[in-house]
Amino acid sequence: MKKVLFAASEAHPLAKTGGLGEVCGALPLALQQCGHDVRVALPGYRTVLEQCGNVRVLAQLTVPGSLEPVRILETTLGRSTVPALIVDAPGMFDRAGGLYVDVDGRDYTDNANRFTVYCRAVVELAMDRGALYWQPDVVHCHDWQTGLVPALLARAPVRPGTVFTIHNIAYAGSFDRERFDSLHLPADLYTPESMEFYGRFAFIKGGLVYSDLITTVSPTYAREIRTPEKGCGLEGLLQHRSQDLVGIINGVNYALWDPAVDPVIAERYDAGTLENKRWNRRALQQDLGLREDEDALLIGVVSRLAYQKGMDLLPAALAPLWTQGVQLALLGSGDPRLQSEIEQTCREHPGRCAAYFGYNDTLAHRILAGADVFLMPSRYEPCGLGQLYAQRYGTVPVVRRTGGLADTVVPVNASTLAAGTATGVMYEDDSVEALSAAVLAAMYLRRAPAQWRQLQIAGMRRDFSWGESARAYAEVYRQARERRR
Ligand code: ADP
Ligand code: GLC
Repeated sequence: MKKVLFAASEAHPLAKTGGLGEVCGALPLALQQCGHDVRVALPGYRTVLEQCGNVRVLAQLTVPGSLEPVRILETTLGRSTVPALIVDAPGMFDRAGGLYVDVDGRDYTDNANRFTVYCRAVVELAMDRGALYWQPDVVHCHDWQTGLVPALLARAPVRPGTVFTIHNIAYAGSFDRERFDSLHLPADLYTPESMEFYGRFAFIKGGLVYSDLITTVSPTYAREIRTPEKGCGLEGLLQHRSQDLVGIINGVNYALWDPAVDPVIAERYDAGTLENKRWNRRALQQDLGLREDEDALLIGVVSRLAYQKGMDLLPAALAPLWTQGVQLALLGSGDPRLQSEIEQTCREHPGRCAAYFGYNDTLAHRILAGADVFLMPSRYEPCGLGQLYAQRYGTVPVVRRTGGLADTVVPVNASTLAAGTATGVMYEDDSVEALSAAVLAAMYLRRAPAQWRQLQIAGMRRDFSWGESARAYAEVYRQARERRR
């Protein structure tokens, strides 16, 4: 058994803005089930404090760079028994806005300071200087917000092993020299072999340079980020560390994402009662004011509206297809320009195109259950969760061949169709034409009901539960620990 301290800026259900939060909420549970002692350190955002209510104060820490003492509060990750250690620094985290952005959607100007305080508190916990009488064997850090943890721990002569997981290399957490000076960090961190990055200071480099092992969330992305095309300037460093870099695919928490038990969908179903999916289809059309057309190809999208996701191609790609009978049910938030473009498309195609802008967990489930296909035209995708959920919901994924999408969808072709293993449509080019053609291909496939059903069932039978990935992480922890000996 290993003692593992998770450091992450989000973990479901306490704090989540996307896939990172989902993974950091689920993986600790799976590790616990494998017998590991896992505790999750999370910033004390206002929304987290509100969920905790009256909780025990475990420790009070003095953290350099924080004017106030930092308290460590103890709660659990939702109804699980996984302990959550809340880093309560009100000046940094008890705010009205989001996790990373203010009420107007702009990045907090002091994000570097906020996550420095958080990282410093995690280091205190990792070194058992917080009077918890618990020292982890391994600290598992996630994304740039935690990058300083391996960097600061590396200075200790005796310390836990460190693992850094890249969920998205495009977010480096990079800040200018002046900001760096305000963090009161050791000056030697601002050097090229350390965390300096093209004249700035990048948190992610702390994880990539100093952690014992690096993981990312799919084998294909692990290869892609070692190339100039996808490495965001960090490919050289990752090449250098390629012996220490491994890709482990994300899992699914099927207690939350399974149409057989999903409490918010119109009608539950599984592979044996797949015909009940149509009630969810009808409910979704009604929810969003779409025409109740049985023949239409109902496309579902649940996504951040960001460059990564390729959604800007959607209006043009669907333009020639409206008259051929496509419908779109889109849930998303992000880029306001893209949002208004999609709104415009909805106005032009009433009853065929509907969108909801904002964050809505219930609607996300209802789209997964109700749509015929689930579309992910990503430019890059470290892992992606939507396509994993979609397969369990019998909603055929239409995805671009990149990152985790390439690793988790079995593309339709003559041999996979014959073998009955195909689960989705996969296309290559990042272009309007290729996206359009992929949707059209799905439309033709759906016109052959027996074949379509085979695609759906093959997807539903796939098992992306966390067990196997949790075991892969446990092996990484073993190696990280080994290196400290
Ligand atoms: P990323 O983390 O890059 O956004 P993932 O596919 O890993 O992509 O995870 C996204 C998660 O966030 C999925 O669970 C998806 O259902 C959810 N999600 C994204 N946008 C929304 C939204 N507007 N409302 C509800 N859930 C959303
Ligand atoms: C990031 C990636 C996404 C991945 C998620 C969880 O947000 O964009 O592909 O699934 O992290 O690892």
